[in-house]
Amino acid sequence: MDKSGVRKNPDGKCIIVFKPSGKIVEAEQGTLLLDAAKRAGVEVQTPCGGFGRCGRCKVQIEMGEVARRQGPHLTQAEIERGVALACMTVVKGDVIVYVEPKEVTRLAPPQETTAEKIALPIACEWQRNPRIRKYFLNIEPPTLADATNDFDRLRRELKRQAGVDNVFASLQVLKNLPTVLRQDEWNVTAVLESDNTDNGNGSQPSRLINVQSGDKTKTSWGVAVDIGTTTVVAYLVDLLTSKVVDIASAYNGQINAGDDIISRIIYSQRGDGQSQLQAMIVKTINDLLIELGGRNRVKLPEINEMVVAGNTTMTHLFLGINPKYIREEPYVPLTTHPPIVRASELGIRINPEGGIYAFPSVGSYVGGDIVAGVLSSGTFQSGKLTLFIDVGTNGEIVLGNADWLITCACSAGPAFEGAGVRNGMRAVPGAIEEIWVNTETYEPTYRVMGNLPPQGICGSGLLSSLAELFVSGVIDKGGRINRALKTPRVRVGEHGAEYVIAWASETQHEQDIVLTEADINNLVRAKAAIYAGFSVLVNSVGVTLADVEQILIAGGFGRHINIEKAIQIGLLPDMPWDRFKYLGNTSALGAYTTLVCQDMRLLANEIAAKMTYLELSADNSFMNEYTSALFLPHTDTTAFPTVQSLLDSTRERLALSGTSVET
Ligand code: FES
Repeated sequence: MDKSGVRKNPDGKCIIVFKPSGKIVEAEQGTLLLDAAKRAGVEVQTPCGGFGRCGRCKVQIEMGEVARRQGPHLTQAEIERGVALACMTVVKGDVIVYVEPKEVTRLAPPQETTAEKIALPIACEWQRNPRIRKYFLNIEPPTLADATNDFDRLRRELKRQAGVDNVFASLQVLKNLPTVLRQDEWNVTAVLESDNTDNGNGSQPSRLINVQSGDKTKTSWGVAVDIGTTTVVAYLVDLLTSKVVDIASAYNGQINAGDDIISRIIYSQRGDGQSQLQAMIVKTINDLLIELGGRNRVKLPEINEMVVAGNTTMTHLFLGINPKYIREEPYVPLTTHPPIVRASELGIRINPEGGIYAFPSVGSYVGGDIVAGVLSSGTFQSGKLTLFIDVGTNGEIVLGNADWLITCACSAGPAFEGAGVRNGMRAVPGAIEEIWVNTETYEPTYRVMGNLPPQGICGSGLLSSLAELFVSGVIDKGGRINRALKTPRVRVGEHGAEYVIAWASETQHEQDIVLTEADINNLVRAKAAIYAGFSVLVNSVGVTLADVEQILIAGGFGRHINIEKAIQIGLLPDMPWDRFKYLGNTSALGAYTTLVCQDMRLLANEIAAKMTYLELSADNSFMNEYTSALFLPHTDTTAFPTVQSLLDSTRERLALSGTSVET
């Protein structure tokens, strides 16, 4: 023991006890607390991937000696209380650490819809044309007079009874064939994967992916998966009826390696980070399959095909491709058209021979999820000038119609998902999802998901706070909090000016929930990046935002966007509300359409080829547009007439009350 009461082992080993779980690990002196927690199986929130950028991996050192790197995310009071960032702290001796249980990521994310409500927004002609076909065959057993081998015998019957020619199979399928053929007196079901698209290449060979004894043609299953950076959604689809039978969703298991794609790419470059990330997403998908299979009494090997749609980084990581160059100029992915792979190659627990088709992408930052969205939303065949936007961890935007499509990606960052915001959190029970500010007293009223005491603020709550504080005059158009207001809600905290949304006595963690000026800056930067993206796209084709006839909003955050408030802060253009339409998870819908109608793959390829990608970092006008949008709602308030009239009344009210403020 040293004089602080901390034991220092002569062999340099330290015992680390994690509370409240009671898990214990032994580690070398100098081990990062975050690594020790991982080894102990203790979950710590790491939105930035453990790079000291987000301040969300806070733990409490209850006893023992540690060394921490200084950073901006801890206040002096927190340091004195023993709070440390797990990713910036190393152990020097035996330590007892308290880690707040991470309920948030254990909860399944809110389900966006139910299977009965799945409806395709596309208006184009499509029909059932799955790649998976099943044929029940009654085969003549071999005799001395007809000693044709087993596989040729099966192929002969496929041609004779089902008209299918040119069939091949892997060694694995062939190995099982002799037993299966003889199990039920040569009555078998052949499961074939066939390319029946009219792609001009004539008849393609069909792959035999399974042979089952007896008649198994009464069911046929496939799965469509949207691999989001935050959330993964899987649809179980009956390929005989094309119906979505059930939906399951979960947080992407990679969340612990960072909230955004850049953090994930950085994580993938550390040691075996890439294979860890692949294992995490494979596990997430397998868990969803187990959930769907259990609920619907479907054995996983009876699922014969999977279609996935995800951004380019998610697709690379899922397929085990190094995403390194996506992040390095000139931002080149390995491929925009990944080949079909077999489930066994990835460890996905459907039929091991089942094919996995990943949507084609446009480039590094406009991925298969956006191609799937443009497909399922019908943007690619619309007669109207359409702006399709998907605001998630990043903002991807497509402008166009049936004749042309142009696209860009804005690195808005995950601020609207609660990352980089002091009291930000995901949209789960306990999150403040909407706020109203009284324009006389500046007192807030808020609504909390699950009707619980609040724990933090989720994306829609942040958007709502920003808009309400702005139109009520608490913050000005530069995002500064008006310190002259006579309300205890406005104060100067350790990180500068802040507005108290909930007092400690109201909250779950008994600490005030605040929105700081730094948070406001992060949110304004995020909205400015998205709005600048709109502006650059419309300018590049010589039209204006007023010419846009419809705005289709997709993605998880889109579901919670309050159009009125999004216009008030200048995230969305000031247009009549009937031009906005929320479409839901268009990425999952695109994957689903492609699963039930293989002709959609040809369309997906056409869409990906048709989309012109505009690299914003190489566009000279982007910086100007971005700078102009760094104000609420914008430097050009004439583009926001409805917001301007609200601001005029705020200005009058403040003048009457004798408060000095610039709105
Ligand atoms: S600061 Fe530690 S994980 Fe982000």
